[in-house]
Amino acid sequence: MRTTTALREQACQVLEANWTGRFTKPAPRLYPHQWSWDAAFIALGWMHEDQERAQQELRHLFRAQWKHGLVPHIVFDRRARGYFPGPGVWETHRSPDAPARIATSGIVQPPVHATAAWAIYQQARDRSAARAFLEELFPKLAAWHDYLFRERDYYGEGLVYIRHPWESGMDNAPLWDGIAQRMHLNPGDRPRYRRVDTTLVAEADRPTSAEYDRYLYLVRLFAEAGYDEARIREACPFLVQDVLFNTLLCRAEQDLAEIAAELGEDSEPFRQRACRVAEAVNRKLWDDRRALYFDYDLVLDRPIWVRMAACFTPLFAGIPDGLQAARLVSHLEASGFFNWDGSCYSVPSYDPNGLGFSPVRYWRGPVWININWLLIEGLARYGYTEHAAHLCRTVRLLVERNGFYEYYHPYTGEGHGSEQFSWTAALVMDLLARRPEWMQWGVRSTRRRAVA
Ligand code: DGY
Repeated sequence: MRTTTALREQACQVLEANWTGRFTKPAPRLYPHQWSWDAAFIALGWMHEDQERAQQELRHLFRAQWKHGLVPHIVFDRRARGYFPGPGVWETHRSPDAPARIATSGIVQPPVHATAAWAIYQQARDRSAARAFLEELFPKLAAWHDYLFRERDYYGEGLVYIRHPWESGMDNAPLWDGIAQRMHLNPGDRPRYRRVDTTLVAEADRPTSAEYDRYLYLVRLFAEAGYDEARIREACPFLVQDVLFNTLLCRAEQDLAEIAAELGEDSEPFRQRACRVAEAVNRKLWDDRRALYFDYDLVLDRPIWVRMAACFTPLFAGIPDGLQAARLVSHLEASGFFNWDGSCYSVPSYDPNGLGFSPVRYWRGPVWININWLLIEGLARYGYTEHAAHLCRTVRLLVERNGFYEYYHPYTGEGHGSEQFSWTAALVMDLLARRPEWMQWGVRSTRRRAVA
């Protein structure tokens, strides 16, 4: 068992090793560029160690913001090699909105950035630098959220859609299986390409080639549409109102309202938008019979009844009322996602009893630390401190025993995907700093046998 100081130092070394001088790579080899939601989670770790780097992380990302507000899911580092699909595949020059001199992808990832910026400000030792940072970022964050509501909430429902599995951040989640099956690709539709990811980590840990075919088919569709949202909306077989994405947007609007108020700006429009999203999530994505939030497929006009850990994350944004929260927590315990007894490291990304569950394959079952971090904060928000503390100890166990991996086998705890994964380290740093009592050994719990 390591001391808290030793663990924090090791986590910090992971970030240091992945720091490029301009931003932090998500992982040493598998992800050599900057990724959007990774940048936000990574900043949440840096803020405890090096405020300037935390700020720099988001500054670097927002420098690549498109003219109409889109924040790209990848900002390519021209010096880095060995990643597919690179800028040549994205062809973002076909859009008049893409930045001219910075190479990026043409899709988004979940909007955690206002949440990270507000946290950095609140933790900052150098308040005046943090204020200047907030002033610089505020209009960019507002433009980013405006983009999402303008382009992705076409029917004005208060829910934005994603149009690629990569936009969810949960690339190969079983959520998308039904849509992928509907995408009948003829030989001419199948892009020719060579993957790099499966040469760097075990093929069994990554999405399949059939999934990659569809990822790339969608990328080509976007490029051929010149990244024009109206044209994409017409043709795209993948249009989903995703629980996790909208939850994070709701929370980001709440945090943007805090930022606006701190800067003496009008916070009301952001608060109102946060409320609209929360209402819409409860109206359209809450399934009262199953006591869970589900994604919504806009193409088929019906819910996607696939049970993911992400379906519980509306707790993070305070979306459920007290009764809904209690039912969510009971559901979490009854379903096998959350175990007090050590039968499984909580919380796996996908239903352990679900069809197509895999303990190693990316978003089809392994434990991810960012989802657990969201659940820890969400459970704490509603007063479920025993549950939150239990998850904190699980996170600590996983990294102590196995290192800072991208994701973990829910039954053995073995690390999978890339080692030295930045957001795992960053979020452990954050929990050690902000939730020290829950990350300690020996404290409390009547139900402490869990995962011991
Ligand atoms: C990858 O390369 O695996 C990413 O998840 C896509 O952004």
